Amino acid sequence: MTVPIRTSQAVVARVSGPIVAATGMLGAQMYEVVEVGDEGLVGEIVRLSGDLATVQVYENTSMLKPGAPVRRTGAPLSLHLGPGLIGNIYDGIQRSLPEMHAASGAWIVNGEKVPPLNSDKKWSFTPTATVGQTVQGGQILGEVPETALITHRVLVPPDVSGTLQSLAQAGEYTIRDVIAVVETTAGPRELTMAQYWPVRMPRPIQLRRRITEPLVTGQRIIDALFPIGKGGAAAIPGGFGTGKTITQHQLAKWSNADLIVYVGCGERGNEMTDVLQEFPKIEDPESGRPLIERTILIANTSNMPVAAREVSIYTGITLAEYYRDQGRHVAVFADSTSRWAEALRELAARLEEMPAEEGFPATLATRLAQFYERGGAATTLGGQEGSITIVGAVSPPGGDFSEPVTQHTRRFIRCFWALDTELANARHYPSIHWLRSYSEYVEDVRPWWERRSPEWSALRQEAIEVLQREDRLQQIVKLVGPDVLPDSQRMMLFTAEILKDGFLTQSAFDAKDMYCHPDRQLALLRLIMTLHRRASAIIQAGAPLQLIRELPCVPRIIRAKQAFGNDELDGLLALELQMNQELDELEKEHVRDAV
Ligand SMILES: Nc1ncnc2c1ncn2[C@@H]1O[C@H](COP(=O)(O)OP(=O)(O)O)[C@@H](O)[C@H]1O
Ligand SMILES: [Mg+2]
Repeated sequence: MTVPIRTSQAVVARVSGPIVAATGMLGAQMYEVVEVGDEGLVGEIVRLSGDLATVQVYENTSMLKPGAPVRRTGAPLSLHLGPGLIGNIYDGIQRSLPEMHAASGAWIVNGEKVPPLNSDKKWSFTPTATVGQTVQGGQILGEVPETALITHRVLVPPDVSGTLQSLAQAGEYTIRDVIAVVETTAGPRELTMAQYWPVRMPRPIQLRRRITEPLVTGQRIIDALFPIGKGGAAAIPGGFGTGKTITQHQLAKWSNADLIVYVGCGERGNEMTDVLQEFPKIEDPESGRPLIERTILIANTSNMPVAAREVSIYTGITLAEYYRDQGRHVAVFADSTSRWAEALRELAARLEEMPAEEGFPATLATRLAQFYERGGAATTLGGQEGSITIVGAVSPPGGDFSEPVTQHTRRFIRCFWALDTELANARHYPSIHWLRSYSEYVEDVRPWWERRSPEWSALRQEAIEVLQREDRLQQIVKLVGPDVLPDSQRMMLFTAEILKDGFLTQSAFDAKDMYCHPDRQLALLRLIMTLHRRASAIIQAGAPLQLIRELPCVPRIIRAKQAFGNDELDGLLALELQMNQELDELEKEHVRDAV
């Protein structure tokens, strides 16, 4: 794909960290990839003026000197897309880290050109198109079992259309073998199972679709209170140590997306190591297969070059688009978009751009928009339904949400899971604050949940009301103490406690509870809200709250999430029965007295 262009006089003029000025670059294109110095460090032209090019270099430039050669490639920074992506770990410019490690024993080697895809590996291809038919971009030519979880659909590249002149028979092929020829208006075009796509350009779709399905995450506070749809965008803002990374890991492990793209962006390396060690071991709850069979990792940890961090976000989203185009539901997790914004800031400063708020470039909002806009639910060029859900962690300094990255991100997402330092300090995890978080996808996903259980909306609404009223009552309690509240209001506080302990908190380390199946979520919520409704009525009829507190079922309800796993719903039903019997008894005594 990359065509070397001979320019003997193109040389480095100046080096400023990841930004390199090169002269003798007449005729170069914006965003063209160049190879800098004797090592051939990969860089991208980000500014052109006469024969002077400013190059953003994705590798360590500390050894680079003025006068070093610069070689143009004639192509924009592109990904190689084809079977073999899943299960891989890439750096920001799609170099396979395991391959690099195997080739040289080190994780990152300057100038190392490891191919993103194994071009010797044979894949079993089954054609699905017919010779002689007219094909367009996005059309499926055939299938390859990429992992046990994902069948790769070999697509006509977006910019190719014409008559299918030939198509390979079922058999074993490498990604170098021609598997199809399309007669286009510009002549015959040979296709392989792989294709290139420039990372900064969104892959085209036919149209955007409405979001109709939730991305089920198995995390109760998210699915039940602040759900996200497949194709939605969410932010997880939170100060240091509030649980952004753990939450992202939980979502990457348990979400019911077909494919996960996890971008570790400027955070600690050991967190990526955790992912690497865990994902091959953890099984997908639906299929029982290792999660790594549906995951692609992009690692650009804090110790890796800052310019590669800038591009890693686009690499991640381009990979997601490629699988969306195959009719898949993809979820992209980026941890953290703040570190990405910091990379933008550093590069902008090196480029001597005029800084805006807090030193971030004036283009910050546009850049964030361009990222989140590449998500969404779509009808693909080939007529399939696919989606990209984006979840970005945001790490505001000091946990202050008024800073620019959090504020701008808010404009482009519709789901906000606000992590709270006080909750985290109290070890209430996930520390998603129920009053400061929101989801604008509730109406989109409601029909899906109501098909599962017609009570979903009512239960959700009741729970939210209890939590909101608790907040107001707590303010009174702070002023005058709890004793002045009538029992009906103290019941509200009691239910809020049960909701927090028995429903909203969910440990990422509890094997039974780390993933909560939708049916178990509904069963737990119904248990708590039924207790609330019936107990409130009994208190209304004159029974003291103390009698409710003393019911034997109460501590069992609080512990139910840990006692009964996803395949133990019988236990929850039995507990509901016990609770109703105990409430029946109380009701007999008190409701009769009241009339
Ligand atoms: N859902 C959870 N269950 C249990 N512990 C959690 C959970 N979320 C966060 N924690 C705890 O909080 C700590 C910090 O979380 P982390 O995700 O690393 O924070 P951040 O990325 O926001 O700095 C974790 O090491 C873990 O002990
Ligand atoms: Mg973190």
